[in-house]
Amino acid sequence: MRRLPRALLLQLRLALLVAAGAPEVLVSAPRSLVWGPGLQAAVVLPVRYFYLQAVNSEGQNLTRSPAGETPFKVVVKSLSPKELVRIHVPKPLDRNDGTFLMRYRMYETVDEGLKIEVLYGDEHVAQSPYILKGPVYHEYCECPEDPQAWQKTLSCPTKEPQIAKDFASFPSINLQQMLKEVPKRFGDERGAIVHYTILNNHVYRRSLGKYTDFKMFSDEILLSLTRKYKYQVNVDGTVAAYRYPYLMLGDSLVLKQDSPYYEHFYMALEPWKHYVPIKRNLSDLLEKVKWAKENDEEAKKIAKEGQLMARDLLQPHRLYCYYYQVLQKYAERQSSKPEVRDGMELVPQPEDSTAICQCHRKKPSREEL
Ligand SMILES: *[C@@H]1O[C@H](CO)[C@@H](O)[C@H](O)[C@H]1NC(C)=O
Ligand SMILES: *[C@@H]1O[C@H](CO)[C@@H](O)[C@H](O)[C@H]1NC(C)=O
Repeated sequence: MRRLPRALLLQLRLALLVAAGAPEVLVSAPRSLVWGPGLQAAVVLPVRYFYLQAVNSEGQNLTRSPAGETPFKVVVKSLSPKELVRIHVPKPLDRNDGTFLMRYRMYETVDEGLKIEVLYGDEHVAQSPYILKGPVYHEYCECPEDPQAWQKTLSCPTKEPQIAKDFASFPSINLQQMLKEVPKRFGDERGAIVHYTILNNHVYRRSLGKYTDFKMFSDEILLSLTRKYKYQVNVDGTVAAYRYPYLMLGDSLVLKQDSPYYEHFYMALEPWKHYVPIKRNLSDLLEKVKWAKENDEEAKKIAKEGQLMARDLLQPHRLYCYYYQVLQKYAERQSSKPEVRDGMELVPQPEDSTAICQCHRKKPSREEL
């Protein structure tokens, strides 16, 4: 065999290195991470979800999407071949930072359980397949659970400082008085009061004025919009801006107008850490944009920190935790028993014939409810 001169060999090697210049990030299926509430049978949500983090063979997290269309694939099916159920499993949602959001919706309850396969190409990712031992309940299955156990399953935070603060001025709540005063004070002008009573696990409702339409919460569109701009300005509308959470979830740096209004998660967001504050009268808006342009690294860091915090705070299961705790506090402070009032109608549980299911939990007796 003829030998190549050493110098030429070196050159060849260099050429090869250059050809491989833009390094294809290689994802390791076994080292990648999978986690989230959607891997637990007991976390009942309309849309179950979990996360994927792409990790390379050195064990480093990828911080951007692997090139091309993602080879991550998820298969969700019933454990028992005898139980046929419909499950909607969209493609993993690429969050453009090496992580993916995986969602699935069950249309029925499975008694035996679910098998979730997470694949990268043909390889199983992390501990895939995940077995969720049944019963795995459909959202509409009426199967009340012990509240303590439920909160534990959802890993609800033990403290919600905003709730404590909001209720501090209302040590006791007089329902009779509220019934007299609230419609008078807020009913006419604003025209969007719904009066609820929750009694024995049933919801009753009386509508004063019109419903407001909250369909503006079409997450996907807003989420996608928030990815397209480097800076986003959050300015109040009539009250707190609905788009703020969506802005925080996006990749942009959020410039937030000071505001007397707030939503439950604002307390956890700090100025200069998670967003850049701007004055109520916007007089410093240009100055702050200029700051962001001149301090690009820091601005990017704030954008990222804000996004991570929002992702944590705004997980669907955390919202259930929050609502539960608000209602709990409200109930504790009532000075009289709630009643089903004149003009109220029962809000029925959705009647979805396919969701008929056997509740395996012992039904609490009437008195316990
Ligand atoms: C990798 O990502 C996961 C989830 O995104 C995170 O919990 C973990 O701390 C990261 N590891 C490193 C070494 O950054
Ligand atoms: C805007 O508000 C600040 C106080 O936050 C005040 O000092 C300033 O004069 C105001 N500017 C204008 C243009 O109103």
